[in-house]
Amino acid sequence: MKTRICGTGSLLPEQTVTNDDLSKIMDTSDEWIKTRTGIRARHLATKETLTGLAVEASKQAMDEAGILPEQIDMILAATLSADNIFPSLSCELQRELGAVNATAFDINAACSGFLFALHTADAYIKTGRYKTILVVGGEILSKMLDWNDRSTCVLFGDGAGAVIVKADEECGILGISQGSDGALGEALLCENRQINNPFASNPVELSYTKMNGQAVYKFAVRTVPKTIHEALKEAGLTVEDIQLFVLHQANIRIIESVAKRLKVPMDKFPTNLQDCGNISAGSVPILLDEINRKGMLHKGDKIVLAGFGGGLTWGAAVLSW
Ligand code: UT7
Repeated sequence: MKTRICGTGSLLPEQTVTNDDLSKIMDTSDEWIKTRTGIRARHLATKETLTGLAVEASKQAMDEAGILPEQIDMILAATLSADNIFPSLSCELQRELGAVNATAFDINAACSGFLFALHTADAYIKTGRYKTILVVGGEILSKMLDWNDRSTCVLFGDGAGAVIVKADEECGILGISQGSDGALGEALLCENRQINNPFASNPVELSYTKMNGQAVYKFAVRTVPKTIHEALKEAGLTVEDIQLFVLHQANIRIIESVAKRLKVPMDKFPTNLQDCGNISAGSVPILLDEINRKGMLHKGDKIVLAGFGGGLTWGAAVLSW
């Protein structure tokens, strides 16, 4: 039994913020951001909620899959920026969609979150316990950025993507790989609230995203090709068998370096980071939905999805469409 993606959806916030817009409020430039990252613009939430973005993305995925809310057995949302600490984004989605028969919980594996959620869905489908799962990845990371730290705030964007996966005899996930290295966690970090109770109190100081960009860069270019090779090995395929590589959209230079290491031409790596920035757990499902809607995916095509990020974490999936 395989886990097949039967529908995709996505939504970005309305407000587009270009590099030039940013250069008016901080010491940066279109030239610096474009050259170092490939990013030209990103969408930032000004009035949207993550639940609202994810509901719309989920409805699109359900429409394409021909699924009614009551048919969803499970909702898995990958995020580190849900509207509430609890209830989870998945439970909010369950309420909004009327998915009354679903079990719902969130997964936090930062920018690898969507891959981890997809792998979790795959494991549940393989047990036979669940047959139709809504998997979402989305972030409103802009609320967790230090807008005085130009080295991080220019990189990220907001948005949500969703897929419906179902048990299928023929097509679906053929191989996966995932991993974590908590010892490197400080390279990409956002602390939660400090301990604060009548017996131990700390100054109430909100933490924002901090990143050692070069450490994460080196980790990504080393780890992503390795995890892709591992997933391909499990699938019994090689890079030559793959039509498209849908990678986490952090930096065009990372994607170029992965393509070079895999010896695959860049035209097999669709990108949207130019207009979206890095949407963490949202980036893979949003890009997947874009290429699906453009008609770039055909039944039986072999594709690779891969992500990496905070934790540190990484993961890849090989699937037949
Ligand atoms: O989702 C996973 C998470 N993240 C990633 O994948 C990020 C991986 N890392 C990267 O993409 C890159 O390391 C960055 C794009 C974050 C940074 O690129 P870099 O080539 O490693 O630049 P850098 O950090 O070495 O900074 C170079 C210079 C510094 O100035 P000095 O010290 O050379 O004078 C920075 O202060 O660029 C400066 N700088 C900026 N200048 C203009 C840093 N941010 C900016 C900025 N605008 N926004």
